[in-house]
Amino acid sequence: MAGLGERIQQADWKKEKHVPVIECPDEVQPDEFFEVKTTLGKAVAHPNTTEHHIRWITLYYHGEGENFPLQLGRFEFTAHGEHATGANKGPAYTNHSGVCSVKLAKSGTLLAAAYCNIHGLWEYSKPITVQ
Ligand code: FE2
Repeated sequence: MAGLGERIQQADWKKEKHVPVIECPDEVQPDEFFEVKTTLGKAVAHPNTTEHHIRWITLYYHGEGENFPLQLGRFEFTAHGEHATGANKGPAYTNHSGVCSVKLAKSGTLLAAAYCNIHGLWEYSKPITVQ
């Protein structure tokens, strides 16, 4: 039986519109807060319509030598033009990006997972050095 891990897709975010991107410094100071922005569609735009959109992006951190990743933040995008008069008639859209403030005690890897309501799960990772 195929597990969830085998269903999470990976690709180059510069070519594939579903891959979340993590934007933050490559190196940070221990225990000093810095901002991490997770976006999607940075190089190739993803649609944001009632029928086809990004529902959420979740950001994780896996510290060196740790057994398990920790969830740092979760961004839900819940307005995609829905309206009583019909799809894409609404006045509000949430775009697929989110920022959170993070501090780390040691180096590790930041990981982001994103979910498209049509094209499933996608992931990305970025090493981060604490010194
Ligand atoms: Fe999609």
